[in-house]
Order: sequence, then structure tokens, then C-alpha cells
Amino acid sequence: MILKAIVAYAENRVIGKDNDLIWHLPDDLKHFKRHTAGKTIIMGRKTWDSLGGRPLPNRRHIVITRSTDFTAQGAEVVNTLEDAVELAQNDEEVFIVGGAQIYTLSLPLIDILEITEVHAEFEGDAFFPIFNEADFELTSQEHHPTDEKHQYSFTFKTWKRKAS
Ligand SMILES: NC(=O)c1ccc[n+]([C@@H]2O[C@H](COP(=O)([O-])OP(=O)(O)OC[C@H]3O[C@@H](n4cnc5c(N)ncnc54)[C@H](OP(=O)(O)O)[C@@H]3O)[C@@H](O)[C@H]2O)c1
Repeated sequence: MILKAIVAYAENRVIGKDNDLIWHLPDDLKHFKRHTAGKTIIMGRKTWDSLGGRPLPNRRHIVITRSTDFTAQGAEVVNTLEDAVELAQNDEEVFIVGGAQIYTLSLPLIDILEITEVHAEFEGDAFFPIFNEADFELTSQEHHPTDEKHQYSFTFKTWKRKAS
């Protein structure tokens, strides 16, 4: 199993505000969909809530909560990150999809980071953790300019953990 994290963050590492996304960048949503379609996604309970209580189509959802009586229709619920990873161990590619708490918790386990750097700063209350770039190799990057559908420019970056 390869464990990836996929995230879009701003220049000040903001990823969200009031349990929602901040920017609307359709080509970044397509990027998210292209990577995660047909795959397993692991998320924190708050990110699950931000989806509106229903799963994204065509993906296996695993939700992490400390609550022992939480249920989520269309998702599997676990109490630890370790249990989430264990549940998904036979899946080829598994994505950590946030939010801030779950990115922070899982960072040491991540093999590949799929990052969208949004070239602007935003006010927010959820942040992507700082990671040591020296532990990773930048294997691809692709810039997306602003246009009529994209108010901010952004760059897709793939970071692969170096063999230790
Ligand atoms: N830009 C992006 O790419 C992106 C992606 C995803 C999310 N987001 C944004 O991120 C924000 C949400 O992030 P967040 O950090 O507030 O919430 P989160 O990480 O989605 O979920 C936090 C919840 O996960 C559970 N949890 C956390 N640590 C745990 C542990 N050690 N063991 C068991 N359960 C644990 C707890 O659930 P219980 O409270 O139920 O116990 C906790 O309240 C939103 O604004 C969302 O829009 C942005």
C-alpha cells in the first residue's frame, strides 16, 4: 500500500476556515478527483462533516473520530489512524485527505505528498503542518495561471519521500 496525502494550501499554509474550504478552483477539484477516484480516502471527522454527511462518489471512505458511537452512512468509522491504515492495508493507493489534525497525525507515515500551492494568503483556522522538504524529493510541478474560472494561480507539486 502506498500512503499519499493530498492537500491544497495557501502561501500561509491555510487549508480552511469555519470547517470549509476557502477558494473555488475547479481545476484543483478535478485534480483531487483524478487522483482519488476509485481509491480509498481517510479523513478526520470534521472533514467528513464538511462534506455534508455523504460520501464522494466512487471512493472508499474511512473516517477517524474519538467518539465510540459515531456513525457515518457510506463510510467506515475508526478510532485511530493506525486502525484506518490497517483497514486499508490491502488497497493499493490510499489518500489522507485532511483536515489539519489528520494531516499532522499522518505526516510521518506519508510516502507521497500531492500538494496544490495556492498563490495567495488567506485568513483561516486550519493549517497544513510544516514538513521537512529535505526528507522528500520534488518529482513534478505544474503551474496553473489565473483565468476567468480561477481567481488565484496555483502550482501542483508532487513530493516523494526519499528512501531512508
Ligand atoms: N484545503 C484542503 O486540501 C483541505 C482538505 C481537507 C480539509 N480541509 C479543511 O480542514 C478543516 C478541518 O480540519 P480540522 O483539523 O479542523 O479537522 P479534521 O482533521 O478533519 O478532523 C478532526 C477530528 O478528527 C478526529 N481526530 C483527530 N485526532 C484524532 C486522534 N488522534 N484519534 C482519533 N480521532 C482523532 C476528531 O474527531 P472527533 O471530534 O469526532 O473525536 C477531531 O475532532 C476544514 O476547514 C476543512 O475544510 C482542507
